[in-house]
Amino acid sequence: MNFRKTEASKPIGMFDSGVGGLTIAAELLKELPGEKIIYFGDTANVPYGEKDEPQLIALADTITYFLVQKGVKAVVDACNSTSSVALDYLRERYALPIIGVIEPGVREALEKTKNGRIGVIATTATVMSRAHERTTRKLDPSVQVFGQACPKFVPLVEAGKISCKEAEAATREYLEPLMEREIDTLILGCTHYPFLSHLIKKFLGPEVSIVDPAVGTIKELKEILERNNMRNISLPSGFEEQEYYVSGDPALFKEVGGKLVGTSLGRIYQVPISVKIKKDRSAG
Ligand code: DGL
Repeated sequence: MNFRKTEASKPIGMFDSGVGGLTIAAELLKELPGEKIIYFGDTANVPYGEKDEPQLIALADTITYFLVQKGVKAVVDACNSTSSVALDYLRERYALPIIGVIEPGVREALEKTKNGRIGVIATTATVMSRAHERTTRKLDPSVQVFGQACPKFVPLVEAGKISCKEAEAATREYLEPLMEREIDTLILGCTHYPFLSHLIKKFLGPEVSIVDPAVGTIKELKEILERNNMRNISLPSGFEEQEYYVSGDPALFKEVGGKLVGTSLGRIYQVPISVKIKKDRSAG
């Protein structure tokens, strides 16, 4: 890919079903100061974890198109559920770097595991796609991956309920079966879950390494930007200065998102998503 120098001044597009991608945005703001983010949270369609593959591809495509129209220089698919099934499609369709969250998480987990038994907690869609297993098999076929769907987590985080009894009970319910599998490394395979990492760490104890794919994802983005002379170091790097678009209620996103990241978010605009969504599996 050849990029002109002027590409550097353009923003980075990032999307998720809701507030989860803000965990990736936080890592970006920390590691790539000076860049500007245009963030899309598809809060009218959350949770993505209960949608099927064609729905997820259609949503990811619509949002990526929106971000490309906004003039971004790269897109971070800050959602495991869409990264699991839509990345190849998006990369073929759009002529700009598109970074997903699955492979960076798997790479770090492979570096950390000693007993070759990795757990992945994720949405139902991500677990069913077996994207982490496929990626692991490609990189190190000797390692075993155990997936656990955690459908109660995303609604709790979207409601800002990250320290209640319900969240503690769900943590136990989802992690107990993985402990029985004797995992020594756990991938947080949904970008909402780092907001629950205090409960997850407490339950697992110090013996299990926890991988937040945000770190590897932003490292990959940084390498791509630097290799292509697209790195911008000139803009303010707070959450407040970024630009946010949501398909649902902007006030709710501002309130919950701000509470989760511990600082006020910038201006939030509402943009409806026009893709036709069939009924969620959970809705029957
Ligand atoms: N945060 C997203 C993920 O990483 C989507 C969660 C959801 O909407 O179910 O999968």
